[in-house]
Amino acid sequence: MTRLNRRHVLLGGLAGVGTAVAGVSVARAASYPFTLGVASGEPTADGFVLWTRLAPSPLSADGLGGMSSAPVTVEWQVANDRYFTQLAASGSVSAVAAWAHSVHVEVGGLAPNREYWYRFRASGQISPVGRARTAPAVGTSPALTMLFASCSHYEAGYFTAYRRMAEENPDLILHLGDYLYEGGTGSGVRSHVPSAEISSLANYRVRHALYKTDVDLQAAHAAAPWVTVWDDHEVENNYANLVRNDASPAGDFTARRAAAYKAYYEHMPLRSAQIPVNQNLALYRRLRWGSLATFHMLDTRQYRNDQACGDGTKVCPAADDPARTLTGAAQEAWLLDGLGQHLGTWDILGQQVFFTQRLAAADGSKSMDAWDGYTANRGRIQQGWQARGNTSTVVLTGDVHQSWAADIMDDYTTQNQVIGTELVTTSISSGGDGTATGTGLSSLNPHVKFNGNRRGYVRTVTTPTQMAVDFRALNQVTVRGAAVSTARSYVIEAGNPGLQTA
Ligand SMILES: [Fe+2]
Repeated sequence: MTRLNRRHVLLGGLAGVGTAVAGVSVARAASYPFTLGVASGEPTADGFVLWTRLAPSPLSADGLGGMSSAPVTVEWQVANDRYFTQLAASGSVSAVAAWAHSVHVEVGGLAPNREYWYRFRASGQISPVGRARTAPAVGTSPALTMLFASCSHYEAGYFTAYRRMAEENPDLILHLGDYLYEGGTGSGVRSHVPSAEISSLANYRVRHALYKTDVDLQAAHAAAPWVTVWDDHEVENNYANLVRNDASPAGDFTARRAAAYKAYYEHMPLRSAQIPVNQNLALYRRLRWGSLATFHMLDTRQYRNDQACGDGTKVCPAADDPARTLTGAAQEAWLLDGLGQHLGTWDILGQQVFFTQRLAAADGSKSMDAWDGYTANRGRIQQGWQARGNTSTVVLTGDVHQSWAADIMDDYTTQNQVIGTELVTTSISSGGDGTATGTGLSSLNPHVKFNGNRRGYVRTVTTPTQMAVDFRALNQVTVRGAAVSTARSYVIEAGNPGLQTA
């Protein structure tokens, strides 16, 4: 990297966790390209991905962020300290219009289990500084502080929960989907851009850019590496594979999915293995956190059968058809193979939709969009981890905009044996402020132990012997600045599945 002038060094030195605000204030200069912040992701023991996208006019309607069609060289630096006095790696990459001038740098050759700081420079401007982290080496199991979140709706509330996540100084953040919402402007504390439901590549790009201009979201990205998987709203509510949810907006849904997946890749810190090909993007993948934990990140949208009985919450015998799949056969086999490898003490499934059975009424009605609509697929996976002797399996879930905790049972009718644990994060903002108490617990679902209806996220601190779980909650998201507190805590013991009161 060429030498940096004094102002750049000063900016780098001042920036850090939570200082994306500084970047946005600088962004008022029309040429400042880092209006969308910076991000890292996909940590391994020797590196991670660095991401940014050049967009001096982030909401430009053509989706090009105010950039011309010309490629731009983007320099990057990774340092051992937040002041960049000692560089660990550096280089440059070309940002091109075909990928909306986004960059995805796969950094390797770093030391395991330590934090690093990174920044970019392009067009004579320097980016905010982000903090990244490498995973520990295989054979070691240092404690891991991991936060997971889902469902950030720009109109429904401010992203204060993302700010609070940044302040937790996590090692790792998982986002389990509904990173953005595709709908047009509704009612809320602020308005979507574009104002209509998005379906073109340009519109998906602008919507991603709108979300990324949020300073609280930028702070969370700058605080730690993220591992992301999508749910439905990154494309369209409740779509299934190439089956659309409704006829509006008109147009070819395959082309729409291709546009949405491309924009998703462009805006997330993903590896080249996730570069989309036409309407497909290979998103399910495994990440190892030393010998402590293996993250099996699932895609429950791209390969699923259409929701049974026309979707909704209902009694539907077809939901139990053994031929139905939520994961697709290839992903199911891949997951079971990975569970059988016993790569770490904990097997953590990061995925979207409610996993355990959740009866809505005594007549047996259940959500057709969740695993309850694909019970044979769920049964094969549950029995698969039992057969392989996985006794420290934790399923992480988003989607439903409330906090839940449940024991995963071998059989939901007999409630014979606890074989795993499900933790469901509430939304970052979807649903607005919520209520002080959840009302979802029911004697129909004795394995479901907790339901909360505030916004927030889940904090886990994992060691070789236990996972300490805190459901973190904010009383308000329709006004900025709410504090976070713990609504409920549990402990999960390694080798002893199920929730224990902390
Ligand atoms: Fe959602």
